[in-house]
Amino acid sequence: MKPVNIGILGLGTVGRGTAEVLRANAAEISRRLGRAVNVFMVSTRDEAKARAACPPETLITTDPFEVVRHPEVDIVVEVFGGTEAAKELVLEAIRHGKHVVTANKKLLAEYGSEVFALAEEKNVMVQFEAAVAGGIPIIKALREGLSANRIRSIAGIINGTSNFILSEMREKGSAFADVLKEAQALGYAEADPTFDIEGHDAGHKITIMSALAFGTPVNFQACYLEGISGLDSRDIKYAEELGYRIKLLGITRKTDKGIELRVHPTLLPESRLLANVNGVMNAVRVNADMVGETLYYGAGAGALPTASAVVADIIDIARLLGADTGNRVPHLAFQPSQVQAQTILPMDEIVSSYYLRVQAQDKPGVLGRIANLLADQNVSIEALIQKGVVNGDTAEIVILTHSTVEKHVKAAIAGIEGMDTVNGKVTMIRMESLND
Ligand code: NAP
Ligand code: HSE
Repeated sequence: MKPVNIGILGLGTVGRGTAEVLRANAAEISRRLGRAVNVFMVSTRDEAKARAACPPETLITTDPFEVVRHPEVDIVVEVFGGTEAAKELVLEAIRHGKHVVTANKKLLAEYGSEVFALAEEKNVMVQFEAAVAGGIPIIKALREGLSANRIRSIAGIINGTSNFILSEMREKGSAFADVLKEAQALGYAEADPTFDIEGHDAGHKITIMSALAFGTPVNFQACYLEGISGLDSRDIKYAEELGYRIKLLGITRKTDKGIELRVHPTLLPESRLLANVNGVMNAVRVNADMVGETLYYGAGAGALPTASAVVADIIDIARLLGADTGNRVPHLAFQPSQVQAQTILPMDEIVSSYYLRVQAQDKPGVLGRIANLLADQNVSIEALIQKGVVNGDTAEIVILTHSTVEKHVKAAIAGIEGMDTVNGKVTMIRMESLND
């Protein structure tokens, strides 16, 4: 059978990884697919890089639009990143009837509705396994493996860079800035690493998974984002003393009132599998009504793991070329007519338990007053520990609460911060037992 021709946009970390996987596993891939995958054309600003990465017959251009418009290209692989050039290139590829494989979660989380609508109109497939959790086939699991279920919730460590930073800080006491540099050198970080450390990248990924799980349009604007840059190493230490680890989690959960969609540092009991996912590894826990809890683990970033997902998508598309278009797996798991907007809960309405750290004067009655302010808001205390005097007469108090509605804990915090025996802001970190 004639080889399937791909065109790769950009030979950065993932682009070169894709060329490498196709080269190294060419025989195995054609054994599975029944035909070869040919790197027909690449766009790059660096011809020498293309010569080193691609077969000698690959056409090389500096103009990415030449790739997306070339009549011989069957599948365009968008590994540019960002939403400016990449969006135009993907839309132009679709307009030219090309199938698209993209690793670009930002593009899909922000403009997915536009991209998928055009793809449906033009009858082409847009696959994006590499966009979420690197090499883990979580998109396939959500779209196909779990399609008999109502999904209840997803919680995941889905930013390799942040997990790498948190792991190195906890295990080796390394400084935040040094570990971030290392993550960049290893090819884990986004071109702008603030996307990693401020939670945007994880927000893009959980937004995509939420859409696939609940049959809603992608709605990144509604996702709450809080990254790891504001974390204090004291909280990592205190959490550990209390039997918890802090992880950057993406969480989406269907409740009677609406969908929770959020990214933030989270205390997890150290006995939980997710709490023991370290380094650049990612893990996604899905809770669904029939199967119960399932967990997916693997490398969340890096050239070859990500390219493994890109190439799997190329193979999936190539298998379906020429097949009945009516039987394709829908882009967002549900039939397009069944994708319906649903309420995304504001953070004040989410339900979680909380870690609070308060700096207060070490005087009789202060602890009692703090406990009363929590009780006034119906916030029940699971544990309360005084960490000793830290500064003259100031003590640090760590409180763990039971589950409560977030607005109640925030109201209690406002009261605590108003006490004249309390110094500065109260630190609040959400906790998840993952017992839903
Ligand atoms: P990268 O190393 O920065 O590579 C992107 C490449 O695209 C550049 O090297 C460049 O190719 C080309 N490019 C980008 N903007 C361009 C522009 N304006 N004009 C011309 N060429 C441009 O990025 P990456 O890490 O491979 O990531 C690519 C995509 O995969 C992103 O969407 C990212 O979020 C996603 N992703 C990355 C990983 C990972 O581990 N790195 C994992 C999962 C998903 P040339 O240098 O060849 O000109
Ligand atoms: N920058 C991303 C991460 C790449 O660190 O997880 C994988 O999507």
